[in-house]
Amino acid sequence: MTDVDWVSLDGELVPAEDARVSVFDAALLYGAGLFETMRIARRWVVDRDRHLARLESSARTLGLTVPPADRLRDRIEQWRERTQLRDGRVRLTITAGSIAGGSRFEPREPVTLVMGSPRSPAESERFRRGVTAGTTRFDGGSLAGHKTTSYLPWWLASRARRDVEEILLVDTSDSLLEGASSNVFAVIDGVVRTPPVRDRALAGVTRRRLLELADEARWPVQEQPVGLDELRRCDELWLTQSIGGVVPVVKLDGELIGKGAPGPWTLRALELYEGWLSRESS
Ligand SMILES: Cc1ncc(COP(=O)(O)O)c(C=O)c1O
Repeated sequence: MTDVDWVSLDGELVPAEDARVSVFDAALLYGAGLFETMRIARRWVVDRDRHLARLESSARTLGLTVPPADRLRDRIEQWRERTQLRDGRVRLTITAGSIAGGSRFEPREPVTLVMGSPRSPAESERFRRGVTAGTTRFDGGSLAGHKTTSYLPWWLASRARRDVEEILLVDTSDSLLEGASSNVFAVIDGVVRTPPVRDRALAGVTRRRLLELADEARWPVQEQPVGLDELRRCDELWLTQSIGGVVPVVKLDGELIGKGAPGPWTLRALELYEGWLSRESS
């Protein structure tokens, strides 16, 4: 029995339809806020503390205030207990808060919102069979690398290509950055590569986890730039993201990748990640 119609607003559990955030909130007015989306697998909030660390790090870099990690952890777990969600996603949003009656640069208290949804069978099936992807030129500017509530550039990039299931973002020098909601791994000339993130792309929690697992398994992955021409001729391609884990890409810009089904490297990456997930969540 789950009840995801409940949300946690500043630590109080309320039915979603009763939850209210001020119309003067700086996230609504200026996009001043941060968020994290985490997977729930067998009631376990996957890599929760790494997500909270990333949120804190972005807050520090951007000069935004977020509540302490232990408070956020409690609120996420309290919401999960209330909803009894077993498999799905939980989204944590911290807005900068209301600016009513004061300076627009000095919002009052940040607002913490926790909400989520169950994983649908269709979603699981889509991740299993692999997704289609397309490429587009993109510049995320100074917000690249942060999950802010100013997500419009990523959102518009995805919306512009509704013919594919994920859009891969390429900079003006034709160098691959990330997916609009994922990081990217490609097998090129027999070598597994993923573009470095630095300040140009989100340091994905799943990307980092897979790199660590690959390292433990003595499986070489190179963090190296990937050009658009290399991407187009890759043998295998997969995405990493919290919600899907390791997600094979079967078609890029209308062309089949390999035979149009997950190849051996992709299957190995899936096995590494899924194996870790099932060990940790059991
Ligand atoms: C732009 C972008 N890049 C990469 C990712 C993957 O990050 P993670 O593995 O932490 O979910 C996301 C996830 O939402 C994203 O929005």
